[in-house]
Amino acid sequence: MIMNLKDKLDKNKIPNHIAIIMDGNGRWAKQRQHDRTFGHESGVISVKDTVEAAVEIGIKYLTLYAFSSENWNRPKSEVDALMSLLVRTINHETKTLNENNIKLQAIGDLQSLEQQTYNELQKAIENTSSNSRMTLILALSYSSKWEITNAVQQIAVKIKNNELKAEEINQDTITSFLNTAAYPDPELLIRTSGEFRVSNFLLWQIAYTELYFTPVLWPDFRKENLYEAILDYQNRERRFGMTSEQLLNF
Ligand code: FPP
Repeated sequence: MIMNLKDKLDKNKIPNHIAIIMDGNGRWAKQRQHDRTFGHESGVISVKDTVEAAVEIGIKYLTLYAFSSENWNRPKSEVDALMSLLVRTINHETKTLNENNIKLQAIGDLQSLEQQTYNELQKAIENTSSNSRMTLILALSYSSKWEITNAVQQIAVKIKNNELKAEEINQDTITSFLNTAAYPDPELLIRTSGEFRVSNFLLWQIAYTELYFTPVLWPDFRKENLYEAILDYQNRERRFGMTSEQLLNF
């Protein structure tokens, strides 16, 4: 692979927010006659490399799909291994996050996490809360349909309590009840491992997001792969439903 992709990036067109569906850990491990857990552990190295690259080039928000609502259906041994890996990684990396001025946040049904996982996560979130260079958002026990359903329930309660009128609901109202209310929508969504699906991830938020699919399995994903995705994104024209001519004056 060409090793100077970073220099080719247009520094004025770095996306603010990148979201990643980290897929392929299991297949990567299987190819090596290892169990799936080894794939997840190796995936942590990719997480670190990607976070480092993102910070270096000035990305402000990086959202990683670490555990979906549907992932609870995996064998208990794999779920336990993933959760324990998550807690270990969060504990181990809090210091590095602080050294690099990175704020950790999480979206998803965090109440469904085991107490210890939840506590460790909250601790790391608090310990990094005053950092400002980049926000790293972990999607945990997350699914977009869960998030939107949750938002609808909260809006319904507001209406019941006469705090909101049905006709006052607009797109901003819905956005404000999503877990991601505090973050801008991603400009770029990356999915690894050659699957062409969105898998219940940020459905509302990706309405205008550029999608990038790569066959690279997540444990093989490195900085260069991130640069490659951003370069691809930079060579596209985002029109938000407008014509190219209108865009020139936008
Ligand atoms: C998808 O691969 C990956 C996951 C379900 C978990 C992702 C978790 C990590 C990379 C490690 C922990 C993360 C952090 C942020 C510390 P898969 O198991 O679906 O692979 P397959 O499709 O090949 O089976």
